[in-house]
Amino acid sequence: MKSSRKDSSLGVMARALATSAILFLLVASPAVAEPPSPLTPYSDAAENIANLFNVVLALALFVFLFVEGLILFVVFRFRRRAAGGPEPAQIHGNVPLEISWSIAPAIILAILFFLTFQALQNVQRLPADALQVEVIGHQWWWEFRYPEQGVTTATQLVVPVGKSIVFAITSMDVIHSFWVPQLGGKVDAIPGQVNTYWFKVEEPGEYHGQCAEFCGIGHPYMPIRVKAVPEEEFAAWVQVQLLGPDRPTDPLLARGLELIEDPQLCAACHTIAGTQAQGKAGPDLTGFGSRPFVGGTVENTPENLARWLDDPRVVKPEAKMPDYNLSSEDIQALIAYLESLK
Ligand code: CUA
Repeated sequence: MKSSRKDSSLGVMARALATSAILFLLVASPAVAEPPSPLTPYSDAAENIANLFNVVLALALFVFLFVEGLILFVVFRFRRRAAGGPEPAQIHGNVPLEISWSIAPAIILAILFFLTFQALQNVQRLPADALQVEVIGHQWWWEFRYPEQGVTTATQLVVPVGKSIVFAITSMDVIHSFWVPQLGGKVDAIPGQVNTYWFKVEEPGEYHGQCAEFCGIGHPYMPIRVKAVPEEEFAAWVQVQLLGPDRPTDPLLARGLELIEDPQLCAACHTIAGTQAQGKAGPDLTGFGSRPFVGGTVENTPENLARWLDDPRVVKPEAKMPDYNLSSEDIQALIAYLESLK
């Protein structure tokens, strides 16, 4: 059989598309991080939410198919077959039918209410023996404090796998929203109020989150990275953060630290544990070298850090950090020092 030109070119296109899609999946999927979807849960809280979503979706799909099916059945079965045919019999009022289509939705809604209530209970009941973390939203970055450990970090939240973590979520300025889709639902960070939430991460890995409430021009630059590590690794990380860096002997690093500790410069706003820099207005920079971002905006590389130090607002519009007109020597010293912090 000879197919038309149009058909065959469509067929070629379809095959090419299918092949490239399969190739893309095979080649790209191991490298591309899993999209941060609430439908791929990695904590019990997120699992509760995903399960509830799936049940609601299944019920809604069933209702949709049932009702649409009835409509299509009626449309085709009882359509007017010949022009000018008689008016069909006008029927209204069928008590058994009306009772059943009132009761059926009520039952479905009652089931959904029960399941929602149960999921809410599971998500909101705070566990005993949990790691406490204070989450503080700022324009435009996230601060994470571990009060029991005495450690503070920003943007990157390091947590132990298999341990419940209770979050006390608040804000310094406007309303933000703490959201790591694979680990739990959105929780508003509201100034003057503390909202609690909890989850337990089941598997080591990096989970992507984002501020989910418009909070000003820098709203898109408020990512969250949850780095879940085995418990021993978490304890080791805490120790490194507590001790802070050694005093450097290398002249470049020493110059970097001198700038960091200058009360007119970095130390006015930033803290690095174990140094004279104890400012509180900006993100804590202890362990900066192992953080994922510069300014919550671009990947943490020496080149991007150079751009940031040269003029933060070129990298992040409306960033609160001023441009200090640093010389390129000072920028190099700061990069060397900051990237050495683990
Ligand atoms: Cu903070 Cu949006």
